[in-house]
Amino acid sequence: MCAAVRKAVIPAAGLGTRFLPVTRSVPKELLPILDRPMLQYVVEEAAEAGITDVIVVTSPGKEGIAEYFRPRPDLETRLADDAALLEKVSSGARLADVSFVIQEEPLGLGHAVLTARDAVGDEPFAVILPDDIVEHTPGVLSQMLAATAHAEDAASVAVERVPWEIVHNYGVVDTDPAGERLHRVNGLVEKPPPGTAPSNLSIVGRYLLPPQIFDSLERTPPGARGEIQLTDGLALLMEDVALYACEFEGVRYDGGNPMGLLRASLEYALRREDTRAAAADLIRRLAAEL
Ligand code: G1P
Repeated sequence: MCAAVRKAVIPAAGLGTRFLPVTRSVPKELLPILDRPMLQYVVEEAAEAGITDVIVVTSPGKEGIAEYFRPRPDLETRLADDAALLEKVSSGARLADVSFVIQEEPLGLGHAVLTARDAVGDEPFAVILPDDIVEHTPGVLSQMLAATAHAEDAASVAVERVPWEIVHNYGVVDTDPAGERLHRVNGLVEKPPPGTAPSNLSIVGRYLLPPQIFDSLERTPPGARGEIQLTDGLALLMEDVALYACEFEGVRYDGGNPMGLLRASLEYALRREDTRAAAADLIRRLAAEL
């Protein structure tokens, strides 16, 4: 994929059922790892990769997401004397130009991406799933752009190896080696029934896509769970466009379920200077009580 990817689509329209009851009023994407929403981490990753325009796909009832990026002059006035707090208040909106489109019905990830068609237009773009959080500098999108810089017009997905017992929860790729940590995709399948996966290389929620993906998604019938799957759209795209899979560097956290989010919070707290000592002390005390 050529380096000039300016736009990213962040699908954030799901109901967040694994986080009920909090998701009755707080969108899952705003739940924190330590003290910052998951959405903040992925917008930072996008900005680091050179993305200037972020398009968030939300759904009715998730107005809190737009609220998060709105300026807060009232807070800024009240916190005017505290530079550190002021910086936190305005950090989300400053990273990128953030806009919103609404997915009216929960018809799947592929459909959510298709909803952003007009906002993206006729140019390559990234897709970032905000509950896949990866701790690494450079971020996954930057790594993917670098790994596929030679393959202009190609599409790519991020992948990682997972234990075979859980591979049925993911999109899975069938590949040939194409370089260091890079694979050429021959086929891919969304949530393969147990025992049928072509490999244990699972898709992690980062995609670099050409605009032709929208035509592919228009032609994609409902698949796993009766939803229009992005993975199935990619399988159609592969008829015309080369697809690569990038094994990124970094730890991936599954922010889509409460234990994954807790793990991420603990590990981030252990790494951050201002929280490291207290987190280590807490974990030691808890472990001693087991
Ligand atoms: C989605 C994608 C799947 C991918 C996964 C990564 O699944 O459809 O291909 O492996 O994200 O998190 P979901 O988590 O929505 O079930």
